[in-house]
Amino acid sequence: MPQDQLKLAVARAALAYVPKNRIIGVGTGSTANFFIDALGERKDDIVGAVASSDATAERLRSHRIPVFDLNEISDPLSVYIDGADEISAQGAMIKGGGGALTREKIIASAATQFVCIADDSKLVGTLGRFPLPVEVIPMAHSTIAKTLAKLGGKPQLRIRDNRPYRTDNGNAILDVSGLQIEDPLWLEDQINAIPGVVTVGLFARRGADICLLGTPTGINTLRF
Ligand code: 5RP
Repeated sequence: MPQDQLKLAVARAALAYVPKNRIIGVGTGSTANFFIDALGERKDDIVGAVASSDATAERLRSHRIPVFDLNEISDPLSVYIDGADEISAQGAMIKGGGGALTREKIIASAATQFVCIADDSKLVGTLGRFPLPVEVIPMAHSTIAKTLAKLGGKPQLRIRDNRPYRTDNGNAILDVSGLQIEDPLWLEDQINAIPGVVTVGLFARRGADICLLGTPTGINTLRF
């Protein structure tokens, strides 16, 4: 079954986790885009959404879903719904393939429940086959790369259109390949402690609570 059909199926299934009359958190990426399009049909049921990227904010607005700044909200978000690049059987994730990892982590940390939506290619035994994105202050990318290499990875500065990629926050991204992440909590803390690192795309301290995993035979609901 094409991956997009699986993404569409889990995106629609995630509507069951959207509470009425609340503001929800919404992620970034192709699976999140399917979710936003589905949410558009239910826009009158919710007050609005907090977006994890400029692209998500634009897509939400295109469906006339009100977009809120996180600073405007006093109550915790009841749910954050987003995709992942990889997810483990324990609910730890690699995220940031789309470059939105910092805002994703902030919104995830402000939400009571994280619902991950993913096709079954994202479920892995050990995290690390997908290069781990690390958002960094641009002036520090080469010193951070050296430290990441000492941790066993092969960092590569993300390039788009022949120039260094910039996140919505104006920062650079190092994509770190060659890691076998046996202890995601430890590695998340190690990388976060490197001066100049803004966010590592390991979501272990605040992993998923639920994963709706799209498979050719239906949706598997994993609870962590
Ligand atoms: C963006 C992300 C996405 O959730 C991740 O890249 C998965 O994307 P997709 O749904 O397109 O496979 O972390 O920063």
